[in-house]
Amino acid sequence: MKITEDILYVGVNDREIDLFEGQYVVPEGMAYNSYVILDEKIAVTDTVDARFADEWLSNIKNALDGKSPDYLIIHHMEPDHSSSLAAFCEAYPEAVIVGNAKTFAMIKAFFGDIKNPKLTVKDGESLGLGRHWLTFVFAPMVHWPEVMLSFDSADNVLFSADAFGKFGALDAEEDWACEARRYYFGIVGKYGVQVQTLLGKAKDLPIDIICPLHGPILKENLGYYLDLYKTWSSYDVESDGVCIAYTSVYGNTKKAVELLKEKLLEKGCKKVVLNDLAREDMAECIEDAFRYGTLVLATTTYNGDIFPFMKQFIDGLTERFYQSRRLAFIENGSWGPMAIKKMKAHFENSKNIIFADSAVTVRSALDETSIAQIEALAAELMDKR
Ligand code: FEO
Repeated sequence: MKITEDILYVGVNDREIDLFEGQYVVPEGMAYNSYVILDEKIAVTDTVDARFADEWLSNIKNALDGKSPDYLIIHHMEPDHSSSLAAFCEAYPEAVIVGNAKTFAMIKAFFGDIKNPKLTVKDGESLGLGRHWLTFVFAPMVHWPEVMLSFDSADNVLFSADAFGKFGALDAEEDWACEARRYYFGIVGKYGVQVQTLLGKAKDLPIDIICPLHGPILKENLGYYLDLYKTWSSYDVESDGVCIAYTSVYGNTKKAVELLKEKLLEKGCKKVVLNDLAREDMAECIEDAFRYGTLVLATTTYNGDIFPFMKQFIDGLTERFYQSRRLAFIENGSWGPMAIKKMKAHFENSKNIIFADSAVTVRSALDETSIAQIEALAAELMDKR
């Protein structure tokens, strides 16, 4: 696949993977993207998961038409991109491996000593291939410390590492934002500040094409993708609506959240998303919590604490610096309900969280009192929107 006259796609689709990074379901597989830049000097950017090393090397061979690459540029060392390094070095022992000081420390830690020549680059430094010049832009902790991007000033191409990536193989026909958002908040969400720094550095580059390490090459309407990244990394609200995340053991808490949804919609709420934390993909639930401005958490009191899936969910939010949202709570407890107190405590150190004044306590099953509380909560959430 040609991206520009001199830049070719040599990556692979992974339709065999069960869990990406050991935890994310990827029903449409994954793509590990790698590119070749053909010039007086030839550069390959990044490798692929080791399970696809042969296919990738064959793609390179076909793209090079008998020539050998002069450089392998490593933008990111996570093994989904680096684990075919040994196979590459064996196939092309003369190629110079290009990385930064942290890249080479990681290569040693993952793969031991490699014999290929090495070129250590600094932030802002450029590498000339002939017509193409690649300028390296360091992006530490987006989402690993060694991450760097490169910008090709000949064709205005940004090789963006994991940034602007998404779940899904390249032959998947699906909406970009849905799986890019789940990918962003799952994998990069904690590092909003670092992504903002990167966007600041990229602001003045005349980017025409973004070549990420996962997902499609982005060639048109780049403002759309950049704006979403701005929203996500600054923890801004993306969509109008309310997200309700709940657990329910015997269906009574579920009835409470369904009633709340009904009341919110009656009062004109544009969108209410209900997520059953025990049954839905946790990464999808986390993505929704960041997408909307109001989050309602509903769970049972359990072992003097909160139900395990809710605990996991809240941890998933707070470890990603969940902030600048309104939170409301529903608890269920047949005796000594304390879930609201416990849930609230998890957000003690979160920034810019507004707690709704109204709260709902269900004592085993909905009754007049709890139904009235749900009505009051719905009214409050719609009042202050
Ligand atoms: Fe796609 Fe962070 O590796």
